[in-house]
Amino acid sequence: MLLEVQGLTKHFGGVAAVRDVGFEVSEGTIFALIGPNGAGKTTVFNLITGILRPDSGFIHFLGKPLDGLKPHQVSAAGITRTFQNLQLFNGMTVLENVMTGAYLNGKTGFVRSLLRMPGINAEDKLISKQALTLLSEVGLESVADIPAAALPFGQQRLLEIARSLASGPRLILLDEPAAGLNSAETKTLAIFLKKLKQNGLSMVLVEHDMETVMEVADRILVLNFGEGISEGTPAEIQADPEVIRAYLGEDDQIA
Ligand SMILES: Nc1ncnc2c1ncn2[C@@H]1O[C@H](COP(=O)(O)OP(=O)(O)OP(=O)(O)O)[C@@H](O)[C@H]1O
Ligand SMILES: [Mg+2]
Repeated sequence: MLLEVQGLTKHFGGVAAVRDVGFEVSEGTIFALIGPNGAGKTTVFNLITGILRPDSGFIHFLGKPLDGLKPHQVSAAGITRTFQNLQLFNGMTVLENVMTGAYLNGKTGFVRSLLRMPGINAEDKLISKQALTLLSEVGLESVADIPAAALPFGQQRLLEIARSLASGPRLILLDEPAAGLNSAETKTLAIFLKKLKQNGLSMVLVEHDMETVMEVADRILVLNFGEGISEGTPAEIQADPEVIRAYLGEDDQIA
């Protein structure tokens, strides 16, 4: 099993943001984590990536515990992520943003690249070439040299995904990648995610856009108030009355 989460629990003060959550992600699949606002989805990502420590429970990646690893060590182990609120380096170009993702897997040159110190070496050239290839896959090659902040929002989201791919992860965690995208951009995103899967990448997808979730996910876990209330295939989830109840009063529709 690629990722195995069991009994995961995290409190903030008296509130259980995540309570006894468990799921497994098989290699080469897209696993979706859905649920109303505040259900604990982002907290699960923060626990997996070492930003937060669980109160209890365990997370195994490729059979090994991730306990105690710092975020950069989790990334070096093969798990990268995107953020619900974009976290790009706005002063850097589109290409440089992707290059920082490649340097983040613990090799050399990261500080030099941040400080823009001279000394372009063979590694930098290779990383720059790979970054351009990634940009072309998300349709951003032509804007490689403009500042990231100058991109329209939808393209910034794609850029963040490209950066998360640059270190060559086995698993990426996507936190609402379709948020703020228009419908054409959302369709492009869904096609891109399916292509990544075909290439062997595994994903955990947190997303409110149900059409995208139902189209791309192999399995879905529904969280409500921190607890898993239903798990299954898209068809099973759509037919589960418990899930429909959890969403009542929400804007979200189970497609
Ligand atoms: N760092 C924190 N400190 C205190 N409370 C937090 C913290 N992070 C999250 N919470 C609380 O934990 C609960 C779960 O939040 P979380 O961000 O994981 O939800 P979510 O499912 O990602 O929601 P959304 O769909 O709105 O992004 C919420 O009640 C939230 O207010
Ligand atoms: Mg969230």
